[in-house]
Amino acid sequence: MQTKSLISITDFTKEEYLKIMRLAADFEENPNQNLLQGKVIATLFFEPSTRTRLSFETAINRLGGKIIGFSDSSSSSVSKGETLHDTIKMVSNYADLIIMRHPMEGSARYASEVSNVPVINAGDGANQHPSQTLLDMYSIMKTQGRLDNINLFLVGDLKYGRTVHSLLMAMLQFDNPIFNFIAPAELAMPNEYKLLLASKGIKYYEHDEFTDIINAADIIYMTRVQKERFIDPVEYEKVKNIYILRNEMLKGTKENMRILHPLPRINEIHTDVDDNPKAYYFTQAKNGVYARMAIIAHLLNLK
Ligand code: CP
Repeated sequence: MQTKSLISITDFTKEEYLKIMRLAADFEENPNQNLLQGKVIATLFFEPSTRTRLSFETAINRLGGKIIGFSDSSSSSVSKGETLHDTIKMVSNYADLIIMRHPMEGSARYASEVSNVPVINAGDGANQHPSQTLLDMYSIMKTQGRLDNINLFLVGDLKYGRTVHSLLMAMLQFDNPIFNFIAPAELAMPNEYKLLLASKGIKYYEHDEFTDIINAADIIYMTRVQKERFIDPVEYEKVKNIYILRNEMLKGTKENMRILHPLPRINEIHTDVDDNPKAYYFTQAKNGVYARMAIIAHLLNLK
């Protein structure tokens, strides 16, 4: 059976992004809609998560659906050696939709090829995190009133950060994005993305320092240096504290600028930023419930 999955952010068109934005706004207005009554959704998390799993599960509960799955694969038969192929084959006989996080890049695409039901990629290694991107776009839309002409500063781990890769790909669909990358050489935005921007004539700038250049930003998108992606702990130690955003650094920034972060944060945003009205990351995480309700409703043709 042919089903539509969300594995890469490029699986959706610009029209679908805009539809998700509209549906998310509708769900934010009316969060308790019984669209998933009689449906079972599987959440399979082979890697830790707080926001993604709990906001998907909140979204499913608010839509009246039932949830099966695991948050720790050691409690499943994967610990006995069962393959991803067999796990997905089985679960797709139980559920109407599978939401999966897995540490291996490409695992979500593979799962969608094996599954009889749609699959949502809830993060596959350093590759993609498309539902995060849709909630990030919803947050940009809500705070800036537009997705065109956004000056976006991406800060931190731009090499392994799947959220920044997905966000970059999505924002390419809108008019005149400007990208500023702030990262140390070890964690620079991979060349494939820079080549893509260059081929489309889209402006990007690279910086290795975190200075008052941020005054030009509409959005500062902070990211965590991800310890779990480093093979060599010495390399992690070198860069772990490289950029820390502090409240005093925000003085010259635009009035309407907002700070996003997919979370969890470690120390890259000092807690003295949290009470600044420009800090938007906790509301961004809340927006995840509405964006994920919208994604589920769209994939299952409920709206
Ligand atoms: N943003 C995000 O993916 O957070 P979790 O790892 O807690 O799901």
